[in-house]
Amino acid sequence: MSREVLGILCSGRGSNLQSIIENVNTGKINAEIKIVLTDKPNAMALTRAKEAGISGVCVDRKLYETREAFEEALLAELKKAGVTLVILAGFMRLLSPLFVRAYEKRIMNIHPALLPSFQGAHAHRDVLAYGVKVSGATVHFVDEGMDSGPIILQGAVSVLDEDTEDTLAARVLEVEHKLYPEAIRLFVEGKLKIEGRKVRILE
Ligand code: GAR
Repeated sequence: MSREVLGILCSGRGSNLQSIIENVNTGKINAEIKIVLTDKPNAMALTRAKEAGISGVCVDRKLYETREAFEEALLAELKKAGVTLVILAGFMRLLSPLFVRAYEKRIMNIHPALLPSFQGAHAHRDVLAYGVKVSGATVHFVDEGMDSGPIILQGAVSVLDEDTEDTLAARVLEVEHKLYPEAIRLFVEGKLKIEGRKVRILE
């Protein structure tokens, strides 16, 4: 089995990127991170990529008139780098069918809630407003909907009465940093089998 080549897309801080880099460096994930792409020039993820010796490229959304043109530019970078698995790590843009079809069943995302509840860009705010007692993180394959693809792994945390968006986000992030590397490890070792909506883990 040939080694997977990862391309990681981020919009900001890049703490999930950092945990993936560390898991590749320690050998837990047997894959190469070939490129980090951001849609914003000031994303901290670019600094993290540079410090890790990984090529970091900003495809600035503001410089493209249409989403299609922007996504074509992202795809061109990914193809040029030979990427075989696309990892969305805090990438805050919905990808069109054009992009999703180019890497069908080869795009993963992490969402900071227990899907299918609390989809979208404000999961922690929505969790607290609704009053649920348990939240968490979900790693899933990306399909043509929003946060709707087959679920790979989930991890739960308690929601506390005194939680703010920040304290809840911090607790969920600890789960994310374990869950995402584990899901990528399973993929690169060929241990994920998608059967319709279900992802079977062959381990
Ligand atoms: C993470 O909590 C991730 O789950 C979330 O953004 C944060 C990025 O943090 N992603 C989404 O909300 C996607 N809709 P990071 O940049 O430190 O990894």
